[in-house]
Amino acid sequence: MARILTGIQSTGTPHLGNILGAIQPGIELSEKPENEAFLFIANLHALTSIKDAEIIRENTRSVAAAWLAFGLDTSKNTFYRQSDVPEVCELMWYLSCFSPFPMLANAHSFKDKSENLSVVNTGLFTYPVLMAADILLYDAEFVPVGKDQKQHLEMTRDIAGKVNQLHEDLLVVPDSLISEKVMVVPGTDGRKMSKSYDNTLNVFLPEKKLKKQVMSILTDSTPLEEPKDPDTCNVFNLFRLVADDNSVAEMRKNYLAGGYGYGHAKKELLGVLVDKYEEQRNRYQELMEDPQTLEDALKTGADKAREVASGVLTRLRDALGY
Ligand code: ADP
Ligand code: TRP
Repeated sequence: MARILTGIQSTGTPHLGNILGAIQPGIELSEKPENEAFLFIANLHALTSIKDAEIIRENTRSVAAAWLAFGLDTSKNTFYRQSDVPEVCELMWYLSCFSPFPMLANAHSFKDKSENLSVVNTGLFTYPVLMAADILLYDAEFVPVGKDQKQHLEMTRDIAGKVNQLHEDLLVVPDSLISEKVMVVPGTDGRKMSKSYDNTLNVFLPEKKLKKQVMSILTDSTPLEEPKDPDTCNVFNLFRLVADDNSVAEMRKNYLAGGYGYGHAKKELLGVLVDKYEEQRNRYQELMEDPQTLEDALKTGADKAREVASGVLTRLRDALGY
């Protein structure tokens, strides 16, 4: 069995980009019989930017509900909330004493984030050490992440290597799994769909609200009767990611033929989103209205996670003299 581990920051309701780019590929990996997945909600990392307790709680529930609505099997895998395993903070301290200061100071993500902030907190600086602790606490072997997290994974490997100079094989040095076929889901304005750009489609919303988001997709001003280029159109580029092949071919033909407006295309896109994700939307709503079921699932995950964590931590405490 290969132990796969990944964390999902809880910074808002997962959007279509998160679903197609992270949740569905993550669930596929977790379903392979040769894998055992540890998936957790990185709600401690979220504190680097969010300081409101209710928002922290709400985002955690929302991310958990999204993963469960898309069918994550919590009996085969370990699905938990980062803060439910406080051992991670202890490990983070040990690891920070092995982390070279310049390595952290050179992190791209720290430099990018701190440039845009008036107040830079130390949590932002030590973010990669907490991430290393997330991974090393569970003897994870493979960590699927997006390209933007590659440097953080290299730091994790570096830190583990430094600890292993004390004793060989004290920590498992993980490999990153960076997906080759990176799918970038465009947002309503054509840039990458992202919470930070306010250009998301939220498929968990009721139809009326989702319709508003779909109708806001940016298009050019080609008149209805004229032929249109499907490949440069945001509506078509979203449609091709969610519709079946026949419908995509049909829409392409309509664009090229003319007499087919962006309003028609948006209506079709909305229809596909509403139908395709009906079951997940209902399940998500049920879970959001039933916090106890979410709590129970996360609690079961935390118990499983803590068992593994305490074994690894004991090994490390021993080696360090505690
Ligand atoms: P956001 O940009 O909305 O803040 P995150 O950075 O929290 O999203 O991303 C969480 C996960 O979702 C990551 O694994 C990331 O690669 C994936 N993801 C985010 N946006 C997209 C997108 N537009 N297309 C594909 N995958 C995405
Ligand atoms: N930093 C990751 C992100 O922003 C989330 C994360 C936290 C993570 N801890 C992790 C990912 C451990 C993989 C492994 O997407």
